[in-house]
Amino acid sequence: MRDNLSETSVDANPLQQFRTWFYETKESGGVDEVNAMTLSTIDSEGFPRGRVVLLKKYDEFGFYFYTNYNSEKGKSIDANGKVSLSFFWPNMERQVIVKGVAKRTSVEDATNYFHSRPKGSQLGALVSDQSSVISNREILEKRLMELEIEYTNKEIPKPEHWGGYLVSPISFEFWQGRPNRLHDRISYNLVDSDWLIERLQP
Ligand SMILES: Cc1cc2nc3c(=O)[nH]c(=O)nc-3n(C[C@H](O)[C@H](O)[C@H](O)COP(=O)(O)O)c2cc1C
Repeated sequence: MRDNLSETSVDANPLQQFRTWFYETKESGGVDEVNAMTLSTIDSEGFPRGRVVLLKKYDEFGFYFYTNYNSEKGKSIDANGKVSLSFFWPNMERQVIVKGVAKRTSVEDATNYFHSRPKGSQLGALVSDQSSVISNREILEKRLMELEIEYTNKEIPKPEHWGGYLVSPISFEFWQGRPNRLHDRISYNLVDSDWLIERLQP
């Protein structure tokens, strides 16, 4: 009941269509973290794994997020860059699914973003060997306290294994809830550098 989507009225460029939906959802005030997205990767055994990460930026090249390169997702992406991103904005009755290829961003990009984060988040990145097992929480809290003292008046260095990925999209699906389950689904597929726009059955 919120809106509709038509293959003739959507933007010819899916990133522009995403920009419109992202903006409208943000303006609606009905979603706490509009930029929370499920990143799905394929592990070395061929199993998919989805987890939420935050979209930090998007532009004509694609979607950017930041993480620990040694994490489960980092290892999966470095072996197989084919990933999916999905957004669900319940109040708008909208879903967006993106398929694309993830590549590390430059060290400069990662360093700039790292230093724009609150000091606590920077130290947290230093403390955590993300996705590896630890015997208890106290070890992490102790490490954090030690680092807080060590870096009281010093710039915190970006860990080498921390940085960004850019997901360059090859396909999109925009889903708009409609009455009687006749939802609108518009797909975009990159064909010879052009976006082919088609309607999918709900
Ligand atoms: C709302 C939300 C936002 C998150 N944002 C990030 C993020 O931007 N980067 C990140 O590495 N993990 C983020 N996480 C944690 C991940 O979901 C995940 O637990 C972590 O990255 C380890 O995943 P992995 O072991 O599959 O690599 C977020 C979790 C939630 C619930």
